[in-house]
Amino acid sequence: LFAGPVDFVKGVVAMSGLPPADRVEICFAGRSNVGKSSLINALTGRKSLARASNTPGRTQELNFFALGEDRYMVDLPGYGYANAPVAVVEKWQKLLKSYLSGRQTLRRVFVLIDSRHGAKSVDEEILTLLDKSAVTFQVVMTKTDKVSRAELEKNVAQVKAALAKHPAAYPELVLTSSEKGEGVATLRAIIAGLT
Ligand code: GTP
Ligand code: MG
Repeated sequence: LFAGPVDFVKGVVAMSGLPPADRVEICFAGRSNVGKSSLINALTGRKSLARASNTPGRTQELNFFALGEDRYMVDLPGYGYANAPVAVVEKWQKLLKSYLSGRQTLRRVFVLIDSRHGAKSVDEEILTLLDKSAVTFQVVMTKTDKVSRAELEKNVAQVKAALAKHPAAYPELVLTSSEKGEGVATLRAIIAGLT
């Protein structure tokens, strides 16, 4: 696990509410229900640190977690969730865009993609947004326990093809299952190694 205690710091609803940019920060972006909150729980070994749920749109704020004293891990609201009032969706998208392109200390954005679905058009939109920002980003495939290895390979190839259009992306994908633990230690090591 990570060195030092893991604590929930705060939920942020506007750029003005961000904690001071004084440490390494990483975040998890991805479509609603892709498994962002579950992955945070698996990474920290804390079952209900981040609120996970089968109801899409569960995470509605930028939730900051402190990993020890020197880094933040951020759970983001999902994008592409259509079942919320338009005004709410627009407010989230605006905040998400400002955060993803304007946060100085953000070292890596992990873009989560469901192993069952591959990259969808909303994922492409986020990748395009990230192309224009200075931050490095890396794709994490989630829920590998839900697909056969053949289907996984097919969808990994589809995601890699999509990533070819985004040369700024970190080329290596991480395959994960929060349920079974696949890839969790690998991802933890990547996060711990960022400076
Ligand atoms: P929002 O906050 O709504 O954007 O969703 P999220 O991306 O945070 O997803 P969340 O972690 O809440 O997970 C959504 C659903 O997928 C929950 O029912 C989880 O139990 C399930 N889930 C997440 N990760 C995995 C996994 O690795 N394997 C399986 N089988 N289910 C998973
Ligand atoms: Mg969530």
